[in-house]
Amino acid sequence: MKGTSLILFFCYFSCFLVLKSQANQGDALQRLFDAKYKQKSDIDIGFYGEVELVEKDIVLPQGGLKEKDKIEKLPGQPSVNFTQYGGYVTVDADHGRAFYYYFVEAEKDKESKPLLLWLNGGPGCSSLAYGAMEEHGPFRVRSDGKTLFRNRFSWNKVANVLFVESPAGVGFSYSNTTSDYNLSGDKMTARDNYAFLVNWLERYPEYKSRDFFISGESYAGHYVPQLAHTILQHNKAAKNTINLKGIIIGNAVINDETDQVGMYDYFWTHALLSDESIYNIHNYCNLTSDAPANPRCASAANEVNRNIGPIDIYSIYAPICIWSNLTDKPRKDPITKFDPCSEYFVYAYMNTPAVQEALHANVTRLNYTWESCSVILNAWADSPNTIIPLLQEFIKNKIRVWVFSGDTDGRVPVTSTRYSLNKMNLPIKSRFRPWYNKEEVGGYTIDYEGLTFATVRGAGHMVPSYQPSRALSLITHFLEGTPLH
Ligand SMILES: *[C@@H]1O[C@H](CO)[C@@H](O)[C@H](O)[C@H]1NC(C)=O
Ligand SMILES: *[C@@H]1O[C@H](CO)[C@@H](O)[C@H](O)[C@H]1NC(C)=O
Ligand SMILES: *[C@@H]1O[C@H](CO)[C@@H](O)[C@H](O)[C@H]1NC(C)=O
Ligand SMILES: *[C@@H]1O[C@H](CO)[C@@H](O)[C@H](O)[C@H]1NC(C)=O
Ligand SMILES: *[C@@H]1O[C@H](CO)[C@@H](O)[C@H](O)[C@H]1NC(C)=O
Ligand SMILES: *[C@@H]1O[C@H](CO)[C@@H](O)[C@H](O)[C@H]1NC(C)=O
Ligand SMILES: *[C@@H]1O[C@H](CO)[C@@H](O)[C@H](O)[C@H]1NC(C)=O
Repeated sequence: MKGTSLILFFCYFSCFLVLKSQANQGDALQRLFDAKYKQKSDIDIGFYGEVELVEKDIVLPQGGLKEKDKIEKLPGQPSVNFTQYGGYVTVDADHGRAFYYYFVEAEKDKESKPLLLWLNGGPGCSSLAYGAMEEHGPFRVRSDGKTLFRNRFSWNKVANVLFVESPAGVGFSYSNTTSDYNLSGDKMTARDNYAFLVNWLERYPEYKSRDFFISGESYAGHYVPQLAHTILQHNKAAKNTINLKGIIIGNAVINDETDQVGMYDYFWTHALLSDESIYNIHNYCNLTSDAPANPRCASAANEVNRNIGPIDIYSIYAPICIWSNLTDKPRKDPITKFDPCSEYFVYAYMNTPAVQEALHANVTRLNYTWESCSVILNAWADSPNTIIPLLQEFIKNKIRVWVFSGDTDGRVPVTSTRYSLNKMNLPIKSRFRPWYNKEEVGGYTIDYEGLTFATVRGAGHMVPSYQPSRALSLITHFLEGTPLH
């Protein structure tokens, strides 16, 4: 009876989560999986190697725009010594499609520090919501939804960091041709991310030849390699040369089948699932097929729903958000204690007109609210079932490739990533070992030929939210190209 699907589970599971909390990255990912592996899915899961080369004329004049994008000060912000910018970059002039970006320059020696782009996943989730305001940006929003506090572990200690809301329909990014929202998918996202980047570099020419790195988490396990691949293809055709040095992806969607098996195995090995259910999943579920559900598989699915539903699957030992109320007086929790209600604080902050004005966002007065994960994107055209061939391409091209895992994430857990990487059969360069941060084990790491894998101990899906100091140490080593030790 091998060969029946877990689709039923997917529905129960995601429906439950949607009722329970605001949409977030993992929920969006779950919805994509539902759609991708349902019967008669119309999502293209085939791999694509060729990209349509984007012509030079996508680069529009950018003179004077950088100065206009400079952010004087955000409402409720403490004073700082680095410069921030925010604004729109047109990625398709005919359709009127534009991406919103937020850029924070390095605190010290910005001229000699690399440029690091960060992407969040979903699909449909905002890099401003997560990356910038809840993970490794310079500020976090306090529980009053009005004031910001400094993140002393922000990644602009070691890089100039660029956050972009992608694709159109996410956050403040939009299209004047609203039918574009029905065409979203991996291909269009990669194309638009590339168009964004070449135009952004035209606006900030001092970064054109800077060492460039791309980072991201979750479904950005697709976006990051696909953008890197698009850059390499254009570099080869000598269209626009971008000095791409490396990519790093965390708790990343890499290879659907191993990602799925690894998730259930993680549940079982972390005492979240019974012996009977993991047996049924291993023997009666086909994790990447649209075959009809087998009853044993369905009963395992029900148990997963009952057991995982009440906890935070993205950080299995973390507290959940019980009261999402804003508080009159901001709580003064330290940066090292991530507030599970942060998403609500960020939502309130970003939907404040004065904040949008300071950010130079929502200039066309969109007729819906800013959301951390889009509610207007509801179709996804294509999503290959693996991105391993892209990782192999980067290794061949000597692009630095790092993959990391917060080891308390249950959504795209460390087991999934290890199963996926094991599929690559890479020779080992330096054996599996602990790495240290401030006298403590920050996680474990192994160097393969061409690829480094590292865990971050005690971190969930959003690694820098839960372990800001360890995450900063990780990104510092990645950017320097020095082994973790
Ligand atoms: C899962 O389903 C696919 C498509 O129907 C099939 O090709 C594959 O052999 C199945 N896998 C297992 C383990 O039965
Ligand atoms: C900014 O730099 C000045 C001069 O170096 C220093 O005195 C001040 O403390 C810095 N402010 C912050 C917030 O870091
Ligand atoms: C979208 O339309 C608005 C209103 O006409 C216009 O101001 C804006 O520039 C357009 N956006 C793009 C990217 O063309
Ligand atoms: C998007 O697709 C949906 C479902 O196919 C359709 O109902 C809707 O009209 C489309 N929207 C636009 C703006 O084309
Ligand atoms: C949040 O709001 C609820 C209902 O309005 C109220 O009962 C509760 O005490 C509030 N909690 C906090 C922490 O303010
Ligand atoms: C929002 O604007 C879009 C495009 O301008 C339009 O198609 C849509 O009907 C509007 N929605 C509402 C609720 O007004
Ligand atoms: C944009 O501004 C309008 C009007 O000021 C507001 O109603 C809407 O919620 C905002 N939308 C976004 C995405 O920020």
